[in-house]
Amino acid sequence: MVALIDKLEHAPAHLICGRHNNRPDALLEILHETQAAEGWLSDDALRTIADVLNISRAEIHGVVSFYHDYRRAAPAKHFIKICRAEACQAVGSEALAAHAEQKWNVSTGCKSADDLIGLEAVYCLGNCALGPSAMIDGELFGRVTPERLDALVERCIEKAERG
Ligand code: FES
Repeated sequence: MVALIDKLEHAPAHLICGRHNNRPDALLEILHETQAAEGWLSDDALRTIADVLNISRAEIHGVVSFYHDYRRAAPAKHFIKICRAEACQAVGSEALAAHAEQKWNVSTGCKSADDLIGLEAVYCLGNCALGPSAMIDGELFGRVTPERLDALVERCIEKAERG
């Protein structure tokens, strides 16, 4: 029976709770660390945290839904952020975003059906003189044309596949 209970628990979340001595007042740090480790907060992780900290599941769901930084769905494998602020708009970021939506069949603010690409709008990446600007998997690029975006994303996908 013990082995079955262990299997049902979310091991990374349990470990993170332990690093905080299973203190309920460390809930926010535990949620942040679990999301950092997993990329999102699964039902299993939240159930484990609630059980280990001895707080209600309603309470933990209330906290998670209050803060917009917490992700409740698995993230896309690759993230494209396209700047939609004025300087980048003036040099074609709207067309670039439209191209990305069509190319990967994804709406801005969502991820593709195969979880490969997440597309987000951002409002200034601090690279205004070199717009349109985009960030792909955390790397900043300037003067991004649709063709260049395709090549950059392909490169990121290949790089990730090679490990
Ligand atoms: S407006 Fe796009 S990087 Fe600043």
